[in-house]
Amino acid sequence: MRIDIITIFPGIFSNFLETSLIQRAISEGLLNIRVHNLRDFTSDPHRVVDDYPYGGGAGMVLKPEPLALAIENIKNENPVNVIYLTPQGRVLDQQYVKELSKREGLIIICGRYRGIDERIRELYVDEEISIGDYLLSGGEIPSMVLIEAVSRLIPGVLGNESSIEEETFTGYLLDSPQYTRPYEFKGIKVPEVLISGDHKEISKWRINKARERTKKLRPDLYEKYLKKIISK
Ligand SMILES: C[S@@+](CC[C@H](N)C(=O)[O-])C[C@H]1O[C@@H](n2cnc3c(N)ncnc32)[C@H](O)[C@@H]1O
Repeated sequence: MRIDIITIFPGIFSNFLETSLIQRAISEGLLNIRVHNLRDFTSDPHRVVDDYPYGGGAGMVLKPEPLALAIENIKNENPVNVIYLTPQGRVLDQQYVKELSKREGLIIICGRYRGIDERIRELYVDEEISIGDYLLSGGEIPSMVLIEAVSRLIPGVLGNESSIEEETFTGYLLDSPQYTRPYEFKGIKVPEVLISGDHKEISKWRINKARERTKKLRPDLYEKYLKKIISK
């Protein structure tokens, strides 16, 4: 999958792209991520990307011309949907992540300040995505959230594909409790069933714990889970 990111802070992405999972996916050719500095698409000597909002008010707005030029250039090489990360968008969840992971590629606009000129949304943006009902200062962190969530679902990116099936949100259930060595820590022992070697019992225990935990911590998800198994 090819992902193009448009940002005024390209440096933020360096460490992220060098982390184990993403870096491995890139080196194995499963992911191709290009970070574009919006300033490279300006035509004035000061490389200005923002301006005051019409009508007044606090904060600056990202100008339309550099964004339009960036999108048009990128689309020549990667003709895919343009995503604007915004708190006004559809809230990202695992179902949406799954849908996005099947795409050929994505073009992501990271907003800043008051956001981007509305005409870019009208003319170029295909999808608007929010990472939750809270406000951040820029779209860079949301785009990393989106990229990491999507990458994990691209076949071959995670070493152990079966772990995806067992993890939180995959089938509306939260993950079961996990333990590692030592067997006893501060007086608490690992549940016996997990060291029994009986895989059938272990998976029964895990599913029961996942159900219990979801019912208690996320009754909204548990409702969805029940509806899903009833409809099967
Ligand atoms: C301070 S916000 C602008 C918010 C905008 N004035 C509004 O009220 O909708 C600056 C940028 O951060 C990003 N952003 C902030 N919160 C976000 C969220 N919850 N999900 C996705 N992007 C977000 C967007 O790209 C946005 O353009």
